[in-house]
Amino acid sequence: MSETARNLRENIVLVGFMGSGKSSIGRSIAKRLGYRFLDSDQVVIERAGRPIAQIFAEEGEEKFRDLETSALASLREVERCVIATGGGAVLREQNRRLLRELGFVACLKASEEVIFKRVSRTNKRPLLRTENPRETLHQLLTARQAAYEETAQFTLDTTEMTQPEAAETIMEEARRAFMWNRAV
Ligand code: S3P
Repeated sequence: MSETARNLRENIVLVGFMGSGKSSIGRSIAKRLGYRFLDSDQVVIERAGRPIAQIFAEEGEEKFRDLETSALASLREVERCVIATGGGAVLREQNRRLLRELGFVACLKASEEVIFKRVSRTNKRPLLRTENPRETLHQLLTARQAAYEETAQFTLDTTEMTQPEAAETIMEEARRAFMWNRAV
């Protein structure tokens, strides 16, 4: 059965590496569609009452991943939302299933150079606080690429695109998937 031949919920889920533009493009799509914007990292932060870097520092990555899985599960009932996810949300099979159940999943990609430039602007990503963040980024990206593409119904490389162009392209693909789903 094709991915869309099922009861596709009318949410747009964005997956992709840190700095791939999930939050900014997600906000732009939500505004254009009149959908609500949600961010799984933000859900984790609100539920834990602490920033992500603090969760990593105090309890480690596995605890963060558990919180991330339960944050994603808590979104099961939402409708007409754009949901940006943390860059590692696709790592667990359970999460990949949850994300696909949430709605139309699009993966955002950008060149390593562009991603590195964007993530270098802040220090809020604990996984890149290493001796050689450029190399860490390369390794994580290489290890995760298959999981992003396996989860998503549509992948968009935004390296050469403006934010409005990327938002429009994803909206168009999502519309097509939702229309096709309504027709079956
Ligand atoms: C992570 C990405 C972050 C955040 C956490 C772990 C990852 O989200 O969930 O720091 O494993 O790639 P963004 O992709 O929004 O930066």
